[in-house]
Amino acid sequence: MRMLLLRTFLVVVLLSDSARSRGRKSRVPCASRDCQCRKVKGKARMTCVWVNRRLPVFHPRDVTYDRVNIANANLTRIPKAAFRNVSTTQLDLSGNLFGASGFNRGAFVGLEARLEVLLLPHCRLATVPTSSISRLRRLATLNLDGNVISVIPRNAFKRNRKLRELRLFQNQLRNIDAKAFRGLARMERLQLAQNRLPALWKGNFRGMRNLTTLDLSGNLLTRIVPGTFSGLNRLKWLDLASNLLTSLTKRMFKGLKQLQYVNLDGNPLTHIGDGAFAVIPRLKYLSLDLANVSRLSPGSFVRLARVKTLIVGDVNRPALPARLFRDLRRLKNLSVLNHRSVFKGLTPELFPAKFGFGRLSVWTAPLRPCNCDVAWIREFNRRGAYVHGYCDGKRPISCQKLTG
Ligand SMILES: *[C@@H]1O[C@H](CO)[C@@H](O)[C@H](O)[C@H]1NC(C)=O
Ligand SMILES: *[C@@H]1O[C@H](CO)[C@@H](O)[C@H](O)[C@H]1NC(C)=O
Ligand SMILES: *[C@@H]1O[C@H](CO)[C@@H](O)[C@H](O)[C@H]1NC(C)=O
Ligand SMILES: *[C@@H]1O[C@H](CO)[C@@H](O)[C@H](O)[C@H]1NC(C)=O
Ligand SMILES: *[C@@H]1O[C@H](CO)[C@@H](O)[C@H](O)[C@H]1NC(C)=O
Repeated sequence: MRMLLLRTFLVVVLLSDSARSRGRKSRVPCASRDCQCRKVKGKARMTCVWVNRRLPVFHPRDVTYDRVNIANANLTRIPKAAFRNVSTTQLDLSGNLFGASGFNRGAFVGLEARLEVLLLPHCRLATVPTSSISRLRRLATLNLDGNVISVIPRNAFKRNRKLRELRLFQNQLRNIDAKAFRGLARMERLQLAQNRLPALWKGNFRGMRNLTTLDLSGNLLTRIVPGTFSGLNRLKWLDLASNLLTSLTKRMFKGLKQLQYVNLDGNPLTHIGDGAFAVIPRLKYLSLDLANVSRLSPGSFVRLARVKTLIVGDVNRPALPARLFRDLRRLKNLSVLNHRSVFKGLTPELFPAKFGFGRLSVWTAPLRPCNCDVAWIREFNRRGAYVHGYCDGKRPISCQKLTG
C-alpha cells in the first residue's frame, strides 16, 4: 500500500515537472533584462529585437548562447568590450546603422573564444572592419551583404584563418587587392555578386584550395586574366552571369579540375575560343548566350562529354553549325531561345553519332508556329526526344512521340 502511494506520488511529481518545463519559456538565464532568452531546438538563444539605439547592459551568465540577435536596433556604434559578459557562437547585428566608423577596435573583445558566425548585412559599412574582427580567430562565417564597401584592401581578413564563408553580396566593390584574401586557406564559399568589379587580379583567390562556390555574377568584368582561377582545384560552382565578358578562352578556365557548374548567362559574348571548355573535364552544367558570337565551330564545345544541361540563350542565327554538340554524349537538357525569330530549329546532325535522343529534353521559347507539327520537332519526337517550351503569350507547349 505504501509502495503504491509512493509510486503514485512520484508519477505525479514527474508529470507536473515535465508539464512545467513545457509551459515555461525562459528556462535559459538571460544576460540582459532588455532581451528575451529561450531554448530553440535545445539551444539557448537571446533575442534583443526591441532594443533601440543603445546596446543593453549584459551581465555575466553561466550560459553559452547559440545565437544572440540584436538586429534592426538602430545601433550606431559598438563600444569597446560591449560583449565582454556574453558568450555566444553566433552574433546577428543585421540592419543596424554603424556607418563608416561604428566599431571600436575592441568592439568584439570577449567573443574571441567562441564566436563562429558574425552577421553584419545592411549595416551601412563603408569598409571591412578588419581591426575589430581580426581577433575573432574562430570566425567561420562573415556576412557583409548589402553594405557600401568599395575596396577590400590587402590582408583584410588575415587573422580570420578559419573563415569558410564570406559574403559581400550587393556592396559597391570596385577593387579587391590582389592580396585581399591572403591566409584564407579554409574558404569554401565566396559571394561577391552584384558589385562593380571591373577586373580581378591574378592572385585574388590564391591559396583557397577548398573553395567550392564562387559567385561573381552581376559585376562589370570585361575579361578574366589567365591564371585568375588557378589552384582552385575544388571549385564546383562558378557564377559569372551578367558581366561584360566578350571572349572565352581555355586560359581563363585553366586549373578548374572539379568544376561542374558554370553560368555565363547575360554576357555579351562575341568569341568562344576553340576548346575554351576543354580544360573543365567535369563540367555538367553550362549556360551562356550565343546571340552575338560571330563564329561557332565544333571546337567551341569540344570535350564536354559530361555536360547534362546546356543553355545557349538566344541563338540569333538560322541554324547552328553541324556537329556543334558532337562531344556532348550525355546531354539531357538543351535550352534554346528564339526571341528574334531567326532560328529555324535543331537538326540531329548537331549531335554525336549514336546519340541517345530518348534521354533528351529540348526547351525552346518562343515556339513559332506554335504547334508540334513542325518538321524539326517531328523529327526529334520520332527519335524519342521531348520538345517543350512556350509559345508567344507564355502558353506552354509539350511535344513528344506518340506511342501505339
Ligand atoms: C529605428 O528607427 C526607426 C526610425 O526612427 C523607427 O521607425 C524604428 O522603430 C526603430 N527601431 C526600433 C527597433 O526601435
Ligand atoms: C558586465 O557585467 C558587470 C557585472 O554585472 C557589469 O557591471 C558591467 O557593466 C557589464 N559590462 C557590460 C559591457 O555589459
Ligand atoms: C579542406 O577540406 C578537407 C575536406 O573537407 C579538410 O579535411 C581539410 O582540412 C580542409 N583544408 C583546410 C586548409 O581547411
Ligand atoms: C547582342 O548585341 C545586341 C546589339 O548590340 C545587344 O542589344 C544584345 O544585348 C546583345 N546580346 C547579348 C546576349 O549580349
Ligand atoms: C532543363 O532546362 C530548363 C530550362 O533552362 C530548366 O528549367 C530545367 O530545370 C532543366 N532541367 C534539368 C533536369 O536540369
